[in-house]
Amino acid sequence: ATTTVYQAENATVSQGVVESNHAGYSGTGFVNYDNVSGSYVQWSVTAAAAGSATLTIRFSNGTTTNRPMNIAVNGTTVASGVAFNGTGNWDTWQDVTVTATLNAGANTVRATATTANGGPNVDRLTAVENAAGGPSMA
Ligand code: GCU
Repeated sequence: ATTTVYQAENATVSQGVVESNHAGYSGTGFVNYDNVSGSYVQWSVTAAAAGSATLTIRFSNGTTTNRPMNIAVNGTTVASGVAFNGTGNWDTWQDVTVTATLNAGANTVRATATTANGGPNVDRLTAVENAAGGPSMA
């Protein structure tokens, strides 16, 4: 399987800011979603082949309140109200995983906050192409 890491700080951000003031992130920072419904991070995810992929979002939520998000692939919501529960503090990161079908080539993956609290802090998206072939395949 092909695994690719996409940092949130390199993604398209609507109603959020890139920050680095909490420990434990990968890359150069994370996205702090504005505390508003509709705030989002959108990645461009390239798939070698069409098919199933596992999408893992690494996040932190230093509150005790779930910050649910909808996950959309190429404009279609594939998972609604995915829970991003409290992680204990803003320096502690956890993974949430959804499965989706990707097209060959470029895809958009958008994680949109659905409550007035906005999203959690988001570090990165990891995409694993579940059925991608090895180097010998056409
Ligand atoms: C704090 C925290 C931020 C976080 C914010 C929030 O300000 O430092 O990293 O994004 O709370 O509640 O969203």
